[in-house]
Amino acid sequence: MKTIRMQAFATVTASAALFLVSLSAQAQSASETLYKGKCAACHGADGAGSATGTKMGAHDFTTAAVQGMSDTELADIITNGKNKMPKYGASLKPEDIKGLVAYIRAFKK
Ligand code: HEC
Repeated sequence: MKTIRMQAFATVTASAALFLVSLSAQAQSASETLYKGKCAACHGADGAGSATGTKMGAHDFTTAAVQGMSDTELADIITNGKNKMPKYGASLKPEDIKGLVAYIRAFKK
């Protein structure tokens, strides 16, 4: 009886873990889709900045200059824009912007 309960518990725990892993993988790919669709034209698929973006004044996401900014500063620039950087506060949800900040962090060298 006790063994069966333990096995059931282990199965439930394992499925919950798998579920969480697939959830975070989904969040990651949603940010990737957003980034490639809305940001890569200026910031480059690798975050270093496209020719157009660099000419407009975008900074290389892989460098300490950008990675040294706080999550709040990065989210603020995405939300409110800055110079030639368009603002996305009206078209993206705060959690999408949070996901994009995490995605930008992954460019760190
Ligand atoms: C039309 C080109 C363009 C697009 C599209 C664009 N950006 Fe930018 N972005 C810029 C420019 C130019 C700057 C530099 C602003 C400044 O400091 O003058 C910038 C700055 C930033 C910064 C601050 C770091 C830095 O490089 O100065 C972040 C973070 C950022 N953009 C994120 C994003 C995200 C996320 C998206 C997509 C949702 C996006 N950008 C779309 C042009 C763009």
